[in-house]
Amino acid sequence: MQTVLLLFGGESTEHDVSVASATNVAQVIDSDRFTVLYGYIDRKGQWWSVNSVTKELSKDSKQIFPILGKKAFIVGDPSTIIEPDVILPIVHGRNGEDGSVQALGQLLHIPVVGCDMTSSAAAMNKYITKQIAMANNIRVVPFTTHYASDKNPDYKEVSDKLGAKLFVKPANAGSSVGVHKISNQEELDEALKDAHTHDEIALIETAINARELEVAVLGNYPDVNVSAASEIKPDSEFYTFDSKYDESSKSEVVIPAEIAPELSEKLRQQAALIFRLIGGSGLARVDFFIDTNTQEVFLNEVNTIPGFTNISVYPKAWEHAGITYGVLIEKLIQLALEQKTYPTFG
Ligand SMILES: Nc1ncnc2c1ncn2[C@@H]1O[C@H](COP(=O)(O)OP(=O)(O)O)[C@@H](O)[C@H]1O
Ligand SMILES: [Mg+2]
Repeated sequence: MQTVLLLFGGESTEHDVSVASATNVAQVIDSDRFTVLYGYIDRKGQWWSVNSVTKELSKDSKQIFPILGKKAFIVGDPSTIIEPDVILPIVHGRNGEDGSVQALGQLLHIPVVGCDMTSSAAAMNKYITKQIAMANNIRVVPFTTHYASDKNPDYKEVSDKLGAKLFVKPANAGSSVGVHKISNQEELDEALKDAHTHDEIALIETAINARELEVAVLGNYPDVNVSAASEIKPDSEFYTFDSKYDESSKSEVVIPAEIAPELSEKLRQQAALIFRLIGGSGLARVDFFIDTNTQEVFLNEVNTIPGFTNISVYPKAWEHAGITYGVLIEKLIQLALEQKTYPTFG
């Protein structure tokens, strides 16, 4: 029997998405093999010991505090100690998916499912991901960066270089939060303002008229499995927060994508390559655009804690490949235990 600390919630704008993901994950963890402890991270970043995946805290809910280097946490006051064998962070975005929880695991000497501190941070930051990709001949959407303290650029100047239709997005965010499609100065100014509420760095990109393809990666290097590409068909002009998660969303996912085998192979190769380049481990979902006119492939982003909601591609892609949801979670835990044992040095 191994003890898993399932973390969910979190400080980011993807708090509720995390809860939806963790609800699914909790349902499929094999209770004959794993004892599950539940750690709810509230919107302020405080960790709470709870009995299931829930956002409800009661008066006697107990807070969780890490004991660094001791593979343990203190729970509540008067306190008990918990000693999870592994942390399973189903926490998206900032202070969850960006290397911070992964770094805490390292300091605690407890393995964490998925990518480590460095690879998580590299994937979370779209600017860094692009730099790594570009240095290794993986094509990314043409872009420029904008810092919150910079003067706003002139729309005409940017559009002369990048095209009339542009995307503005925070370098660090997810679930389409702060992402805007724009085509004039006023929209550019508003989009930058909003993007900077999420991050100091914003990216301005060419808007690609694209099909959206996603590839699921599972394993520790060099034993890495890569799924066939799946296609997202958003129900709106682009894949917004609502078209991802709203109950009334008519967005569709096609698994596997109906694309030429050579194209699927190219996406799989690039997904494996970027996963290796960032130093990924455990899992990632690698998202691409294929230009509908030219068929050019662009890497869009790498998600190290992809969604596990009812509509999420990552678990569905593996289900299609014959790995059921439960087996997938068990495999992810196993990969963490194999990859990351942090010795206590005495
Ligand atoms: N350069 C672009 N061209 C076309 N569509 C884009 C572009 N950038 C973002 N999008 C659209 O916005 C969505 C969210 O942007 P993305 O960069 O994936 O951020 P997030 O990390 O929030 O998912 C994409 O799934 C896509 O629909
Ligand atoms: Mg995305």
